[in-house]
Amino acid sequence: MKKKLTFLGIETSCDETAAAVVQENQDGTANVLSNIVSSQIKQHERFGGVVPEIAARAHVENIDFIIQSALETSKKNINNLDGVAATAGPGLVVCLHVGHNIGKSIAAFGKKKFFSINHLEGHALSPSIENKITFPYLLLLISGGHSQYLIVKDLNNYKQIGTTIDDAVGEAFDKTAKILDLGYPGGANIEKFAKLGKKNSFDLPRPIINRAGCNLSLAGLKTDVLRKSKHINSIQEKYNLAASFQDTINEILKKKTEIAMKEFRSKLKISSTKAFVVAGGVAANETIRETLKEVSKKNNFKPIFPSKEFCGDNAAMIAWAGIQRYKKKLFNKKNETVKPRWPLDNKAPFLKGPGLKL
Ligand code: KG4
Ligand code: ZN
Repeated sequence: MKKKLTFLGIETSCDETAAAVVQENQDGTANVLSNIVSSQIKQHERFGGVVPEIAARAHVENIDFIIQSALETSKKNINNLDGVAATAGPGLVVCLHVGHNIGKSIAAFGKKKFFSINHLEGHALSPSIENKITFPYLLLLISGGHSQYLIVKDLNNYKQIGTTIDDAVGEAFDKTAKILDLGYPGGANIEKFAKLGKKNSFDLPRPIINRAGCNLSLAGLKTDVLRKSKHINSIQEKYNLAASFQDTINEILKKKTEIAMKEFRSKLKISSTKAFVVAGGVAANETIRETLKEVSKKNNFKPIFPSKEFCGDNAAMIAWAGIQRYKKKLFNKKNETVKPRWPLDNKAPFLKGPGLKL
């Protein structure tokens, strides 16, 4: 029987210190032997957002313990590993260095291969931890820092067909939660309180909904929430605004996903059923999941969502990306270092900033 690859993964790109041990299964999925995530919510809560210096310090304080727990839980030691993978970007530079350097050192010490992983590739491949997926597939990556529609042609071969021109979807959730004083982090709280509100109470804008292909714009929506929040007089109205906000995002994603699906088909000239993979922290949202399942059914796509433990930032997805790179012999270049900005598709236009024409 062929040897099953086993990797240690390390993730410190933002506010989660994470380590995991993952072994490949024969059927192309993964066996997650341990998946330890230490969230820094408590440290950042009172600031309503991630403070880079505090995040880096927390990573430094926790990383050795987290890696040790991941190894202990998996019942593996360094000698049992085939490689070590750590996130090298995009993210906060000081935070990335913590995980990347310790990963490099462990690999050097144990004489193992080391892989610098793109965090977005981790998210992009995360649904195949639990599902057998064949390339190509359509990916919607919706997290706190990124919102992109990508055609995943193969490992290391990504074509971006849409992105946000201002706020990411998770960022819009977080900022709205802050405006409505619904706590931090925002996404899960908006979802919770939206259940108590009426989604048709407020008419909110859907910027560029009928133009710019499957690109997104959410800053205007958040600004309108801010304006309307100044006129609410009861807790019920607050919940109604949260529900209306979530519903508006939902409608935007519904429309833009249909466009992305059509583009996927016309670009690849494919009419058969293909996978539509939704990844990133916002993929945990039940309302959005339900809507995107319906859109998939209507457009002959098979919807695939990672389990919630693999939606948000985690190191299992980083270890898994490392295993796949190892199998395809996509080894690190010499002296690979961290990169704060690292798009999956290098040729994609940078759509943020003034003077943008769509
Ligand atoms: O992937 P992730 O853990 O970190 C990044 O790479 O950004 O995503 C975090 C984002 C945050 O903006 C958070 O508010 C959002 O995902 N999020 C949600 C939900 N759970 C997390 N957004 C909407 N609904 C949720 N249930
Ligand atoms: Zn992420």
